[in-house]
Amino acid sequence: MLDQAEKLRKIAKENNKNNGLTRVITVTSGKGGVGKTNLSVNLAISYAKMGKRVVVFDADLGLSNVNVALGLIPGPKYNLYHVLKGQKNILDVATDAPGGIKIISGAIGIVELSNLSEEQRKNFVEGIGKLSEIAEIIIIDTGAGLSANVLSFILAADEVVLITTPEPTAIADAYGMMKAIYKEDDEKNVKLVINRVDSIMEGKKIVDHFTNIVGQFLNMKVESLGYILEDAIVGKAIRQRRPFALNYPNSKATNCVHHIRNKLENVSEEPKGITNFIKSFFRYSVNL
Ligand SMILES: Nc1ncnc2c1ncn2[C@@H]1O[C@H](COP(=O)(O)OP(=O)(O)OP(=O)(O)O)[C@@H](O)[C@H]1O
Ligand SMILES: [Mg+2]
Repeated sequence: MLDQAEKLRKIAKENNKNNGLTRVITVTSGKGGVGKTNLSVNLAISYAKMGKRVVVFDADLGLSNVNVALGLIPGPKYNLYHVLKGQKNILDVATDAPGGIKIISGAIGIVELSNLSEEQRKNFVEGIGKLSEIAEIIIIDTGAGLSANVLSFILAADEVVLITTPEPTAIADAYGMMKAIYKEDDEKNVKLVINRVDSIMEGKKIVDHFTNIVGQFLNMKVESLGYILEDAIVGKAIRQRRPFALNYPNSKATNCVHHIRNKLENVSEEPKGITNFIKSFFRYSVNL
């Protein structure tokens, strides 16, 4: 008899024809409103420009702002909830969005993923496994603040991108997030983006300060992915309901996002694949 975990691994493997190629990137922050959704969407578009197949997974149902950032209002009709219920195939839930990317609404606000029934868990694993057919990169945009779901997405991801602004409160909350990650996995490699900086110098200073503190008090490593300059076109693009990477391809903010993508490409290790993501996801969510 196969035990529960073994059964789930088997389901994930069977539904994952592209294992090893799909990279899962979780974008997170301590404080809300620091630029997660804008980075997720525009980074996805930047990857799509390179010819990569990208899915953005909106794990913040409360505000579900990925679709808003992409000008898709109302958002997708179906979301992860319908997949969990067995009513929809995840490939039908993935919706085409501007910039050649796809988005999936996570319905995370209404489900605690660690408390799924056996049937729902099977549907979740099957669904995520199938995503590898349409995505080389999955970018998960998490909601603000710490919850079991958010932490599971962080701990299971191949890459964790922690974003903050130079504001002391945002930096303090980013440190709080590092502490929470450290408690579960003290070797997790977290990558830092400083958003809304006035100059590269300002960004560098914050990175130095943050890496020092994290190294000293948590003995953890953080790698800098770079900075996004404060840029008025970010707000403008939001009002125009188009991602800035599409409406302002030569802007400061778009160039910064391309740099972040390049750095991420250079420093990332081989992705471990969807099967591993699912395995880690449930290992952590069960333990929380
Ligand atoms: N580089 C930037 N330059 C200027 N304004 C910016 C920049 N980045 C973000 N903003 C502003 O910050 C706001 C919040 O950004 P965003 O929605 O991406 O944050 P978030 O972290 O996803 O928020 P939440 O925690 O609510 O999900 C944007 O609406 C925009 O006005
Ligand atoms: Mg957001």
